[in-house]
Amino acid sequence: MFDLLSLSIFCIVSLAAYYVVYRYRNRRLYELAGRLPGHEKYSIFGSFWLMLSMPRQDYVPCVMDLIKDEQQVTKVWLFNKLMILTKDADFINKVFNMHQTYNKPDLFYKGFMTTKGLITLAGSEHKRHRKVLNKAFTSKMMQRLPDIFDDKSKKIIKNLCQVENCGEFELLEFIGPYSLETFGKSNLNYEIQYHKSDIFHAYDNYSSVAVDYLAYSMMGVSQSLISFTKLGQRIKDTFQKFDAYFDNVIKVNSQNNNNNNIGTDPTAIDILLDPNNGFTEEEIKDELIMMLLGAFETSTRIISMTLMMLGMHQDVQHKLIKEINDVYSTEEKDVKFTTDFLQKFPYLEMVLKETMRLFAVVPLVARETSEDVDINGYTIPKNTTILMSIYAMQRDEKYWGCDAHLFRPERLENGMEYPHAWAPFTGGSRICIGYRYAMLAMKVFLINFFRTYTVDCSQKFEDIKSEMTMTLNFLTGYKVSIHRK
Ligand code: HEM
Repeated sequence: MFDLLSLSIFCIVSLAAYYVVYRYRNRRLYELAGRLPGHEKYSIFGSFWLMLSMPRQDYVPCVMDLIKDEQQVTKVWLFNKLMILTKDADFINKVFNMHQTYNKPDLFYKGFMTTKGLITLAGSEHKRHRKVLNKAFTSKMMQRLPDIFDDKSKKIIKNLCQVENCGEFELLEFIGPYSLETFGKSNLNYEIQYHKSDIFHAYDNYSSVAVDYLAYSMMGVSQSLISFTKLGQRIKDTFQKFDAYFDNVIKVNSQNNNNNNIGTDPTAIDILLDPNNGFTEEEIKDELIMMLLGAFETSTRIISMTLMMLGMHQDVQHKLIKEINDVYSTEEKDVKFTTDFLQKFPYLEMVLKETMRLFAVVPLVARETSEDVDINGYTIPKNTTILMSIYAMQRDEKYWGCDAHLFRPERLENGMEYPHAWAPFTGGSRICIGYRYAMLAMKVFLINFFRTYTVDCSQKFEDIKSEMTMTLNFLTGYKVSIHRK
């Protein structure tokens, strides 16, 4: 009895001493945090548990609610970790461009489960990878893409005859193959057969396990503990599938390169396999996974969301079809897609940009401070996570007017009043490497689609419900009906 009491007192005193020493050592963090507006730490779990305990579909509105409107930033705590939430365009633009906020917080990016690819890499390693991989996304490289996009989109549009005039169908099943097959052909020099492809199944598993893995990691569950669970087994299976698939892609490319097929304009896989660039096998595979993640779900969702928006807003669709018809009426019948030709469709660009504004497919992005940093009068302590709600910023009435929540491409007619408030690809030196690629791919698909079909959507705009998985997803699905023109 006495021993148990002594042990309890010892534990309590040790914990109290640890707490005092911890607070003393981190006094600067607490002093600076005290000056920031926001939610005070009111339990050992911090205040951020409010978000963690929310169902996925409430993540986005919940983050928006936590941000106090009158301030540029709002602090929240996850256990003893300080985080800053913001949806302020000027603040976010500065974060994207400062060297002290170059790196991403492990905690949030653990969900990717790979460490050696562009999305998660830090510091000089990121810069080294990015510098060489940029060569696969230069303006010159973009010139060869429209042909590939044209070819692949025509194949998908041909397949759509199965569902024309047959009522509503799920768009992702048709757009997914377009994104995946164009990705394979243009970045991997490889013909991916979507429906027969293991890579699609690996990807599908990946996006469901990644969210669960992230949730466990944020609650402090270690990687080794997760490896003993069912989730751990699913992660292992997923990566085995990726490995087997990419081994084959690498083998085919190595054979072709040995036959001197490598051109002067290298694609992403050419760059990764070039021994002069010194990528290890792990780095090559992680980069391939990161690129696939970056390219596939994002473009698939945006094309599908755009078609839905046009199905819901027939006036916008008519205007877009008129633009496409007008351009083609003045061109040769067999005019080829080029980057110059694609500039003749300004309304199409506005439609895509407006969809990406309303539905930031990557709704939250994060950075970590590498030292104390002053931004707009706030001193953010070292090792703070800055969580930026692109979704909230792109719907903020302060930047977009009182109809910010509505789909109205005309708002972009004379450019943007606050260009930094539109950042679906982020900005600064870590801006999406594939943003020009994505814009071209989406434009070519939509032009070819509207030369053949019109689209209808019975769902109402205001009934759309979204959830946050790896990317923003419509919980209510992507259903439309199409009719041959
Ligand atoms: C509509 C389509 C796309 C959207 C909305 C999009 C959005 C984004 C965003 C928001 C980021 C920054 C993520 C962060 O900071 O956490 C990003 C990064 C990235 N994206 Fe994209 N992306 C798209 C298409 C693509 C495509 C087609 C590719 C490749 C072909 C790609 C490859 C990447 C890579 C590798 C990164 C990491 C860049 C770095 O940190 O250096 N993305 N993308």
